[in-house]
Amino acid sequence: MTENLETMQVNALKQIKESQSLKELEDVRVQYLGKKGELTAVLKQMGKLTPDERKIMGQMGNITRDAIVNAIAEMTAILKADEIKQKLSSEWLDVTLPGKKPSFGKKHPISLVLDDIIEIFTGMGFSIADGREIETVYYNFDALNSPPNHPSRDEQDTFYITDNVLLRCHTSAEQIRVMEKTTPPLRIISPGKVYRSDAVDATHSPLFQQIEGLVVDKNVTFAQLKGTLQTFAKRLYGENTHVRFRPHHFPFTEPSAEMDIVCFSCEGNGCNVCKGEGFIEILGAGVVHPQVLKNCGINPDEYSGFAFGMGLERIVMKRYNINDIRLLYENDLRFLKQFS
Ligand code: PHE
Repeated sequence: MTENLETMQVNALKQIKESQSLKELEDVRVQYLGKKGELTAVLKQMGKLTPDERKIMGQMGNITRDAIVNAIAEMTAILKADEIKQKLSSEWLDVTLPGKKPSFGKKHPISLVLDDIIEIFTGMGFSIADGREIETVYYNFDALNSPPNHPSRDEQDTFYITDNVLLRCHTSAEQIRVMEKTTPPLRIISPGKVYRSDAVDATHSPLFQQIEGLVVDKNVTFAQLKGTLQTFAKRLYGENTHVRFRPHHFPFTEPSAEMDIVCFSCEGNGCNVCKGEGFIEILGAGVVHPQVLKNCGINPDEYSGFAFGMGLERIVMKRYNINDIRLLYENDLRFLKQFS
């Protein structure tokens, strides 16, 4: 029996040394020390021996088991170290490689121009009024003195939600809301989206943006309107910018005008940018109609005001030489990344 144990120990130690992996090593452990292992089987036989034999065999068994356990522990350490070495050489990381740059978002060209316009007007003492895109017929038309048969009321021009509720077709609706709740003097601009039932093409979009301006105070005149808008044009387009005012008609202003700026492409000579006109129309404006002031509970004998409204997209397109309004709304990153 003792011989048996000696051979077993020699074999076990040899197998342990030859193990190539922790898995193989574990198999060896089970083979000898497991519940049904070879050494366990031998030790189970001990009951059949005489007390003297049992003593010797007990000692021998312990020696064999200790030898196997120690050898396994040693080999485990070696194999684990090997594994780490292998991992280190196969899974390496070059910490000197440059990092990945996160790509930063940029402001939309419409926001860039709107920021500039807001800065110009807040610099002149205007504050900003937030408007609503869903309006009633009263705020969008009636209170603005628009006659019942005005063509802009037509379903072909305006998006109606119900007979009385619509998507505003201009930011002028906000004039009424501001005047209703503010006692003059007041000086606001109100930027926002507006909607008109236009087919989409290079210069039309059913959704576009306007900026409304409104000043109401004692003794406000058309001359002040001209001065304010002239200053605005020079700040936006440069000191040498020339503007002209043409008589026009709006139901909510009297007198009314449109303001053009001299074409910056041909400086007034006429080219394809201004379609031969030499001028580009920028905004509509006028002195607030006394009836509109009355509609908002403001006494027209005491107060007067001026208002203006401009389309934002046209200003953006001229500034960046964009020839198709659709580019502003298609969210193509290749296009949008060009602006900052
Ligand atoms: N609401 C007008 C438009 O959409 C512009 C405008 C605003 C004109 C204020 C005069 C005064 O064309």
